[in-house]
Amino acid sequence: MYLIGIDSSTTATKSLIIDGDGEIVAVGAAEYPFETPHPLWSEQHPDLWWDGTVQSMRAALAQSGIDPAEVGAVGVSGQMHGLVLLDEEGEPLRPAILWNDQRTGKQCDDMRLWLGKENLVRITGNDALAGFTAPKILWVKENEPEIYSRVRQILLPKDFVRYKLTGDFATDKAGAGGTSLLELATRDWSPTVLAALEIPPQFLPPTHEGTQVTGVISAEAAEATGLRAGTPVVGGGGDQSVQAVGVGAIEEGIVALTLGTSGVVFATANEPFYEPEGRLHAFPHALPGKWHLMGVMLSAAGSLRWHRDTLAPGVEFDDLVAPAEEVPIGSEGLLFLPYLTGERTPHPDPFARGAFVGLTVRHGLPHMTRAVLEGVAFGLRDSFALMQGVGLGEIRQVRVSGGGARSRLWRQILADVMGSELVTVNTTEGGAYGAALLAGVGAGVWPDGESACAATIRVTGSTTPNADATAAYDSFYELYQGLYPALQATFDGVRQHGE
Ligand code: XUL
Repeated sequence: MYLIGIDSSTTATKSLIIDGDGEIVAVGAAEYPFETPHPLWSEQHPDLWWDGTVQSMRAALAQSGIDPAEVGAVGVSGQMHGLVLLDEEGEPLRPAILWNDQRTGKQCDDMRLWLGKENLVRITGNDALAGFTAPKILWVKENEPEIYSRVRQILLPKDFVRYKLTGDFATDKAGAGGTSLLELATRDWSPTVLAALEIPPQFLPPTHEGTQVTGVISAEAAEATGLRAGTPVVGGGGDQSVQAVGVGAIEEGIVALTLGTSGVVFATANEPFYEPEGRLHAFPHALPGKWHLMGVMLSAAGSLRWHRDTLAPGVEFDDLVAPAEEVPIGSEGLLFLPYLTGERTPHPDPFARGAFVGLTVRHGLPHMTRAVLEGVAFGLRDSFALMQGVGLGEIRQVRVSGGGARSRLWRQILADVMGSELVTVNTTEGGAYGAALLAGVGAGVWPDGESACAATIRVTGSTTPNADATAAYDSFYELYQGLYPALQATFDGVRQHGE
């Protein structure tokens, strides 16, 4: 039997085929653009995801040469928080408003006013954030009333793909957690929040666990994609929780750290934990009976790329990083604050800015490179610290993935700064792989997500922390933590010149 995972990100849709042992058989991908029609806006037409699904699925099926009748199930995943509005014909009413859109500051304030921030965090696990779905619904209601009057169905991006595949309106609980409309403890829509925001409950699809079958491939979708009509489609999940399944970060104490342009710290919880100030995201996990906490740094490997492109253009990352190896811990008193594109965790502030602090004539490029690697590690430690503050148990292991994880020095700095073991795993296809594993549970290949991960994911490398280095970093981390409070007023002051 074969299993398929689909992942629709902001830049591409990927279709991945694995066999019943978890071996990758074929991958198809189709890229697309996104639009920024106004400052702070980020939009994409839902049809791009469907076209991307059709193209990537056809490519993967052709590459694999398998008989589609042998596909046991399909799992869907994709970018979270995006708003898709459908009319009564099931047609998109406007381009989707994406996770990285920042237009809804006012609507977030309204939500806090109407529900009380403390109450909102207690119910949904999260503060109102501009990127989340609910404030976007309020924005359309307020700014595009004619469009809002024609809304009959509200979906997340991945669920638009599901709708095109099956004809059914459905969502998964992990993705629904990112709307600000889901009750964290019950894993279902919150009547209190819906009533306060005056959003009709019938606009929202039923919620399912990531491993549950939500529908089957329709005749129309079979014709478009080459899949067999009747193939089951499971709930799947938002990209982050499905990515965590894809690297086996599914039990308390094992954290997934993704070091891409942004940096994500993802920790599984056996209870609906949340951070009372809403400084961490708290959502249901893609696996039933589990939740997760998540910290998001907006410029992680993105900071290193900026540093290289600006100060050492054209230099290979390995050549840039090698001399930083000779610089002592703490970069001889140089600190870097990685808020180059604002920040989400621990300071949800789109206007936070980056900084080198402590520069002297002694410092050269290798010091600055090391300061960037250390500053990103300190920023990620902030998420770990918040997680420990809410009562989540000890972090035993960190599973690292993403482009930044290829640097040996960065892995060592991260292990030392966190004071925990850092491991790499054999699976590198992230979200699409996790979605295929969830499909495998839905198709009965494995009894549950734990067995699916145990059967397919193995540790391939390990970096252990050096106790002396960890102790040395502790004092630099303390200095780092003082940077944002000290600079916040300056950031406000320079903001008018930097937009
Ligand atoms: C998660 C988040 C991103 C998007 C884009 O909270 O905003 O991971 O899902 O991929």
